[in-house]
Order: sequence, then structure tokens, then C-alpha cells
Amino acid sequence: MPYLPHLLRISYASLATRPRDAAGFHDIARAAARRNPPMGVTGALLFDGEAFLHLIEGPAPAVRDLFRVCAADPRHHAIDGLVESRDATRRFPHWRSRGVAALAPGALAAGGDAERCALIDRLIAA
Ligand SMILES: Cc1cc2nc3c(=O)[nH]c(=O)nc-3n(C[C@H](O)[C@H](O)[C@H](O)COP(=O)(O)O)c2cc1C
Repeated sequence: MPYLPHLLRISYASLATRPRDAAGFHDIARAAARRNPPMGVTGALLFDGEAFLHLIEGPAPAVRDLFRVCAADPRHHAIDGLVESRDATRRFPHWRSRGVAALAPGALAAGGDAERCALIDRLIAA
């Protein structure tokens, strides 16, 4: 991915419209893996069966456009804990997605940018 002096990172948690729909999660993850890298967008998508944690980073216009598309997607609702930050480097230079064990309600919406990046690191490595 190219060096971006100021990239935009957006993350949020949301609730699945159809909980425990692993096939639905894989459809979303597949679309993201296909569409994100060509837009210069990387990040992570986690799903614990009830909630998503979605983090996207890259050129600001691409990240904002993608967030708008995702926010309107009827497969989730109750977007919570929206965090925006600017950074000189990517925290997640490759697109990643993963189903994780069920977490406490609200766990994915907690924290600021640094805590959330650390949580994703932990859950993706687990
Ligand atoms: C929680 C969640 C996260 C999503 N993340 C992405 C993403 O990172 N990239 C993406 O292209 N689409 C993502 N989507 C899907 C988009 O809302 C949209 O359906 C998709 O981009 C359209 O792809 P299509 O034109 O191939 O149908 C996400 C949807 C949900 C519900």
C-alpha cells in the first residue's frame, strides 16, 4: 500500500440484523476483501455472532465513501462508538476479517482508537 502522509481511520461497532449468521458474515467479508484493496483501504472486520467491529483506514475520501455505503447496509444496525483518527501509518496494512468468540455486549464498541486497535490485534491473533 502507498505511503499516505495523513490517512484516515474510522472504526465502529454495530449489531447484526441476523445474529449468528456465519454465512452472511462470510459474504460481507468476501465483498470487503475484493473491494477494499483496490480502493487503497485496509483494516479489519470482526464478528462475534451478535456484533461487528469494523475498522477501515486509507485515503480519506475512499474511507468516508466506504463508511457511508456500509452504514446504509441493512445487514446491521445500531452503529455505536464511532471513532475517527488521522495517522501517518497504517495500523492494519493488510485487509483482515475474522469470526471471534462471543464477547460481552458492548465490548466491541468500547474504547478509543488505540484501545480498539489493540483489541483487534489481540482478537485476530487469538
Ligand atoms: C458490518 C459490515 C461491514 C462491511 N464492510 C465492508 C467493507 O469493508 N468493504 C466493502 O466493500 N463492503 C463492506 N460491507 C458491505 C457493503 O455494505 C456493501 O454491501 C458492499 O460494499 C457492496 O458490494 P457489492 O457491490 O459487491 O454488492 C460491509 C457491510 C457490513 C454490514
